[in-house]
Amino acid sequence: MCGIFAYLNFNVNRERRYILEVLLNGLRRLEYRGYDSSGISIDSSSISENVILSPPPLVYRQEGNIESLVKSVYEEVAATKLNLEESFSVHAGIAHTRWATHGEPSPKNSHPQTSGPENEFVVVHNGVITNYEVLKETLMRHGFTFESDTDTEVIPKLAKYVYDKANEGQAENTVLFSDVVLEVMRHLDGAYALIFKSRHYPNELIACKRGGPLLLGVKELTEDENSGASFSDFKILKDGQPKELFISSDANALVEHTKKVLVIEDGEVVHLKDGGVTILKFENEKGKNSGALCRPASVQRALSILEMEVEQINKGKYKHYMQKEIHEQPESLRTTMRGRLIRGGSSKAKSVLLGGIKDHLKTIRRSRRILFIGCGTSYNAALAARPILEELSGIPVTMEIASDLVDRQGPIYREDTAVFVSQSGETADTLQALEYALENGALCVGITNTVGSAIARNTHCGVHINAGAEIGVASTKAYTSQIAVMAMLALAIADDTISNQDRREAIIDSLFELPSRVKEVLKLDHEMEELAQQLIDEQSLLVFGRGYNYATALEGALKVKEVSLMHSEGILAGEMKHGPLALVDENLPIVVIATRDNCFSKQQSVIQQLHARKGRLIVMCSKGDAVSVCPSGASRVIEVPQVEDCLQPVINIIPLQLLAYHLTVLRGFNVDQPRNLAKSVTTQ
Ligand code: UD1
Ligand code: M6R
Repeated sequence: MCGIFAYLNFNVNRERRYILEVLLNGLRRLEYRGYDSSGISIDSSSISENVILSPPPLVYRQEGNIESLVKSVYEEVAATKLNLEESFSVHAGIAHTRWATHGEPSPKNSHPQTSGPENEFVVVHNGVITNYEVLKETLMRHGFTFESDTDTEVIPKLAKYVYDKANEGQAENTVLFSDVVLEVMRHLDGAYALIFKSRHYPNELIACKRGGPLLLGVKELTEDENSGASFSDFKILKDGQPKELFISSDANALVEHTKKVLVIEDGEVVHLKDGGVTILKFENEKGKNSGALCRPASVQRALSILEMEVEQINKGKYKHYMQKEIHEQPESLRTTMRGRLIRGGSSKAKSVLLGGIKDHLKTIRRSRRILFIGCGTSYNAALAARPILEELSGIPVTMEIASDLVDRQGPIYREDTAVFVSQSGETADTLQALEYALENGALCVGITNTVGSAIARNTHCGVHINAGAEIGVASTKAYTSQIAVMAMLALAIADDTISNQDRREAIIDSLFELPSRVKEVLKLDHEMEELAQQLIDEQSLLVFGRGYNYATALEGALKVKEVSLMHSEGILAGEMKHGPLALVDENLPIVVIATRDNCFSKQQSVIQQLHARKGRLIVMCSKGDAVSVCPSGASRVIEVPQVEDCLQPVINIIPLQLLAYHLTVLRGFNVDQPRNLAKSVTTQ
C-alpha cells in the first residue's frame, strides 16, 4: 500500500543530486509494499532568510515503477537546467509511493498533491479521507479548482484556505505551520498519515497521523563531520547541531540511515523546524468540536532504538526476497523461540515463557471462548494452531476472518479472549475488528511481527513473533513463526494442567528440534523446482488437507495463486465427496497432504479414491512412507521429516512455498511484488 518518505538535512551541506538520491532510494525501500505510481517534491533553489516568499517547491510525479519516476525526474531536471550540484545547508524533501484507491494510477493522481499551481502547500498521504467530498464541495465554493480524482487533494487545498484565512488583512504571515496543520486535521475524517511541505515555511516539515504508521528517524552529525560519514551518539536533540531527519511509514526505509526513531502516535503533530523537533497533541480525542480557542499541548517523547539490521532489508546471496525469506526459516524460528522455551531439569518440567502474556494467562484460562482473528496468511496460521489450542486448553476456539466478523457484527462478549494475528500489525480489517472487540469488552491479545505497530499498541497484551523484517509480499517466514508462537501460546495456557504434561513436553522437545527439521526440508528446493517445471503450463492446482494440515492446504494454495498467478484452491479433504471430486480427471494436478497424524488413515483413503478416478496426484507424506502411502502411478511424492503432529504444518508448508516460488520464476512473474497486491493492506 502507499508509502511515505521524507528527508530533511540541517546545517549540513547536501547537493541536490544527493538529496534526490536519498529520496528516490527511500522510495525503493518502500517498493515491496505494493504501489502503482510515485512522486517527490524538492526545492527549486536554496532559500535565503531575507526572502519574504520562497520560490514554489518542485513536484515530480509519475505512474509505474520507481525507475520511471527516476527517469522522468532526471529528464525534467535536464530540460529545466536545474543544477544537480547546487548545495543546500538546509533542505526539506518529501516522497511517496501510491497504491490507487481514488482515481487511476496517473501523474495527476500521484502524490505529492498540491494546493494549486504555486505549490504553496504540498502533501503526501497514506490512508483514506472519508469526508473528502464534503470538503471538496466547500473548497470549490471558495474558488478552489481540483485537478485530481484523489481524496488527498482536499488536504493541501484546505491548508491553503486555512493559511489565507488566518493571514487575511495581515501584511506578513502571522500563523505557525503547526497551527495550519492542526486546523486542517480538525476537519479531516478517516485514517491517515501525512507530511506537509510549504513554500510559506521553507525548510520545515510537518508530519501527523491518525491511523497508519509513521516514524521519525534522527541522525545527529558532529560539527566537524559535515560529510555525514560518521555521527555522534545521540544524546539530546540540540537545535543548532547538524543533523539529518527522516520520516517514513516503514522502518525498512530508515534503518540504513539511523536506528534512533520516534514512533509518532495518533493525533500528534510533529514539527521539524530549525533543527528542532516539536510534538503537539490535542488533549481530547480529535481536537474536534473543541473550537478554535482549544490549544494543543506540547508532548515530550523519548526516542527508541530499532531492533533490526540493515542486512535484513537486503537480498544477500538470494535473487528474491521471497526466496531469502523461505530459506531463512531455520533462523527466524530460532529467533521466535529464543528465551521462550525452558528446557527444565531434574526437578523442573519443560515449559514455555511468553513474557508478553504471562500476567494475563489466568484471564485467558477463564475465558468462555477464544477467537482467532486475522486475514490471509495470518488467518491460515491461526487455523493451523487451532487444534492444539483446543486440545490443550479445552476452551472452544472459533476462527474469524477479520472483515467478515466486522461485516456481520458477530457477537463478542466480555468473557471472550480475542487473539489478533497480523504480521504487519497494520492491516485495516484486523484493526477494525480489534476496535470492535475492544468496544465489546473482550480481552484482546496481539500476535504480530511489528513492534510499535497498531496491533501491538492497541491490544491489552500479546506476543511479538520476532521473525525479522518480511519484505516479500507473500508471507512465508512470518507464517511459520506465527504457528510456533501460537503453539507456544497453547502450551502456556495449559501450563497449569498435569494431565497433559507428557504431551506438552513432547511438543516442547519438537519445538527445540524444529529449526533443524526445517533445514532438512529446505533440501527439497531442487525437487520442487523440477516439480514446478512439470506444472508450469497448468491452469489450476488443488491442494487437499485435513486436521492440522487443512491450513497447509489453504496456505499452500494461497502462495501458489498470489505469486505464480495460477488458480489454486485449498480443499478440506473431508469435503471432497461433497463437490470437489467432480473436478478430478487425469489432467488436473492435485497435491494431497498425508503426513502422519490422527487423520493419516483418512488421507490414505482419499488418495485411493482419487487414484481410482485417475487423479494426477502429488502426495506429501512423512519420510519413509512413500511406498506404503502412494499408489503406483502417483506422479510425484514429496517426503518430509516428521515432527510432533501439531507442528507438522510448519514443515509441510515449506515445499509448497518453494513450489510457488519456482513456479513464479519459471512463469516469468514478479515474485516479490505480485500483480495488484500490497504487503500490508491498510485500506478496506
Ligand atoms: C520482551 C522484549 C525483548 C526482551 C524480553 C526479555 C520488546 C518488544 N520485547 O520480550 O526485547 O528481550 O522482553 O526481557 O521490548 N504486546 C502487545 N501486543 C502485541 C505484541 C506485544 O501488547 O501484539 C506487548 C506484550 O504484552 C509485552 C510487550 O508488548 O508487554 C512485549 O512483547 P514481547 O516482545 O512478545 O515480550 P517478550 O518476549 O517478553
Ligand atoms: O500483515 P497481516 O498479517 O495482517 O496481513 C494479512 C494478509 O494481508 C497477508 O497475510 C496476505 O494474505 C499475505 N500477503 C499472503 O502471503
